[in-house]
Order: sequence, then structure tokens, then C-alpha cells
Amino acid sequence: MAVLGIETSCDETGVALYSAPYADEGANKGGLLAHALYSQIEMHAEYGGVVPELASRDHIRKLLPLVQQVLDEAALESTDIEAVAYTAGPGLIGALMVGASVAQGLAIGWHKPAIAIHHMEGHLLAPLMMADPPKPPFVALLVSGGHTQLIEVEALGRYRLLGQTLDDAVGEAFDKTAKLLGLNYPGGPELAKLAEQGRDDVFKLPRPMIDRPGLDFSFSGLKTAVLQTLPEGADEQTRADLARAFEQAAVDTLVIKCRRAMEQTGHKALIVAGGVGANRQLRLKLAEMTEKQGTELHFPPPEFCTDNGAMIAHVGWLRRKQGQTPPCSIDCRARWPLDELDPIPTDD
Ligand code: KG4
Ligand code: ZN
Repeated sequence: MAVLGIETSCDETGVALYSAPYADEGANKGGLLAHALYSQIEMHAEYGGVVPELASRDHIRKLLPLVQQVLDEAALESTDIEAVAYTAGPGLIGALMVGASVAQGLAIGWHKPAIAIHHMEGHLLAPLMMADPPKPPFVALLVSGGHTQLIEVEALGRYRLLGQTLDDAVGEAFDKTAKLLGLNYPGGPELAKLAEQGRDDVFKLPRPMIDRPGLDFSFSGLKTAVLQTLPEGADEQTRADLARAFEQAAVDTLVIKCRRAMEQTGHKALIVAGGVGANRQLRLKLAEMTEKQGTELHFPPPEFCTDNGAMIAHVGWLRRKQGQTPPCSIDCRARWPLDELDPIPTDD
């Protein structure tokens, strides 16, 4: 039996099947059985950002064929599905409604429960799909296009907000700065690529909020600093140098606050999730920091850092295992604080 997961909160249509992992003749089986992802990036690139209504319509077109694709890939029938999990928020409300309606429709048709999943819990617990998963308590850095948060994970489903951005999310700052540098949408990976050609210390940008106590972030000033520093008609090398300075300042800020969060809580593991978790420099710098601290660092592979259906199927499976199947309702939320979730009891 498997849980079908559906993700449509923004511009990726993600579908996956997740079942209980088990060991068979020494090999690990089960777990993630199949996953498929369709990215709308090309369609939105023309407009320089996500157009919500176009996103909703494209999810409608892609969702059911992707459901069929993962069922075929895993050689499963609809009767093998024990629950349908879907992202109920936070995200673009129209896009969320598409996923929720399709999920509830399938669940009703298949006589199975539908489970509403918090998108950020999907990201947060994605590292637990991998081999050697960390056990709570741990600290999580959630870095995406809409969120920059440090969270204390006391237990599965028990999340305490330690700090968050007071203005732009770090992914949003990457995207906006990339636009200033004349790069295409989505800017984060493009800016990271350009920064690889940049030289160190040509430009020095501020590390916002590091001299203030606490674990909050601010990234809008950094983007403004890039705007003020960018010379008119800057050539490719100058833009690359500035991209590098921006990336280093953003990464340093995240690393400094993570170190502080680890020291404050005394936890021994840090996990990083969300789209910006795919950034190579962030991965390298956090690895150095945790090695020095003697703490563990866990990342999902880059493909599961950005939005995907696997992380939703996985949390759906965790919650289903504990019998958590809310009543049938199509109830999506554009905004949804993570600390309003119910705890997930663990077996051990
Ligand atoms: O988690 P995600 O796929 O979607 C949201 O829930 O927001 O994150 C998308 C964000 C975008 O802002 C994108 O530019 C950023 O993650 N991103 C990156 C990289 N890959 C994706 N930012 C910096 N470096 C990357 N390699
Ligand atoms: Zn996301």
C-alpha cells in the first residue's frame, strides 16, 4: 500500500508514491516508489516571474497524466493506494485549489482518505526520506522563495519558530538580485552559476542583522546594496563579481545564524530544506561550520530541496501511519504558520 502525494503550491506540478520502507534480503525497498515533476519555469520565464492564473491552469493540464505516470512506473493500481496527500498551503491559492480538488476527487472516487499537508513540513521532513535520517530534536533551516526560518523540531509535527526573515525571503532576494543583474527567472540557480565566475573581495556587501542578537534575518537591504553598487552598463565580469559578493553575503548571514541557533538550543543536528538548500556555497559553508562544531548536517539531495511531490507523499505517509486522516474538505491556506500543526507520534 502506498500514499499518493500531490504538490501544486507554486510553479511545479509534483506527484509521487511513498510506502513503508523495509529491508529485503539486505536491500532497502519501499520508501519512495516513483516520483514525477513537471516544471512550469519556461512558461513563466517570459513574464519574469510566476503568473498565478497561468500556474493554476497548467497544473490542471498536467496533474492527472502525472498521476497515471507514477502509477505505471511503480506498477501499482488505484486499489493499491491507501491515501491521497496534497499540499493545502501555504502557496498560491488558485494553484493549491487545483491540487486539493484533484486529490479530494481521487480520494472520493477510490474510497480512500485525503490528507492535507503543510508545504513547509514537506520541505522540513524531506531529509528524513534519506538513508541515516536525523532524529528529533534538531534545528532546521528552511530556505525557499517564500520562507526563511530557523525552526526547532522538538518532535515530528512539533515545531517552534526560532527566527525568521523580517522582510524578503532569501530565495526571493536571490531572484530579485538576479533580475537586477539581468538574469532570467528563476534567478537563484542562475545567480549561483554566474557567481562561480566571480572573483572574491571585488565588492564587499553588508551581512544584514549579524550584529543584532536573536535569530531573525533581513535580506531586502542586501538586494538594495547590490542595486546601489551595480555600475551602469556593467560588463559580464563585473556582474559576476557582484553576484559572488551577494551570494557570499547571503550565505554568510545564514551560516552565522545557524551557528547561533545550534549554540542556543544545544542540539546536535542541523537540517536544511527548501529551494535555496540546493545552493552549493551554502552546502559547503554549512558543512565547514558543522564540522567545526562537531554537529551533524543533513540535506536532501538537490532535486528534493526544490518543490516536489515526494516530500508531500512522505509526510502524508507519516501522518497516515498515525491514523491522522482529517475529514473531507477542500480547505487551502495561502498563509499557514507551521507551529499550528498537530504532532506526529513516533513508534519508538
Ligand atoms: O522551495 P522552492 O522550490 O519553492 C518555494 O517553496 O519557494 O524554492 C524556490 C527558491 C527560488 O527563490 C529559487 O531561486 C531558489 O529557491 N533556488 C536557489 C537555488 N536553487 C533554487 N537559490 C540559490 N541557489 C540555488 N542553487
Ligand atoms: Zn517550496
